[in-house]
Amino acid sequence: MEFRDVIYSRRSVRKYSSKEVPDDILEEIIQAGLAAPSAVNLQPWYFVVIKSSRERRRFDEVMDRVGDRVKEELEGRFPNHPDTVKESQEFIRSMGGAPVVILGFCYKDDYQNYSDDALESVSAAMENMLLCACDNGLGGCWLTAPIQAGAAADIQRQYAPDKGRLVGALSIGYAADGGGKSPKRKPGRYVIL
Ligand SMILES: Cc1cc2nc3c(=O)[nH]c(=O)nc-3n(C[C@H](O)[C@H](O)[C@H](O)COP(=O)(O)O)c2cc1C
Repeated sequence: MEFRDVIYSRRSVRKYSSKEVPDDILEEIIQAGLAAPSAVNLQPWYFVVIKSSRERRRFDEVMDRVGDRVKEELEGRFPNHPDTVKESQEFIRSMGGAPVVILGFCYKDDYQNYSDDALESVSAAMENMLLCACDNGLGGCWLTAPIQAGAAADIQRQYAPDKGRLVGALSIGYAADGGGKSPKRKPGRYVIL
């Protein structure tokens, strides 16, 4: 894909087909993440890629509990949109049926003065992964809902007990819906001096 098409066609995909993600594409997505810039070249990331059907089922069990916890937060955020609450909760529980989930952690639990930089660097890697997925005709969605729901420590204990904080999760797979759109961008969010 042309670079600009990748940038402007990427959108958050929350419903996936059961089609598997080929290993070579998954490897390319991971490598795209590792190619991101990082503060003082810390490369402060650690990714857990959940792909086997056994591990995906196990992760669904974790997320099912997160789905229960997140309901109250979603109801507060969308008081007049019960359908949005339901859809979001469903997505969180199943990750939209995505065949692959990538958990992004900080590699170490303490980067001292660089803790914000480490978080930003892991985020840069995660965005690279989403763009690479899009370039390969796949969809993805970034999730921090498990962190908002207070489940980060549980997930870290289970998947990366000797690493740093959970930064976010990515669902990755082929979109099941025919091409939803990203929400409109808000005006007034930049200035050129
Ligand atoms: C840091 C971060 C956290 C996000 N967390 C969630 C989430 O928990 N659940 C979800 O459905 N989408 C989540 N998203 C996706 C956003 O809702 C989405 O990017 C935004 O609505 C813009 O839509 P687009 O990605 O289609 O352009 C997150 C995105 C980012 C960057």
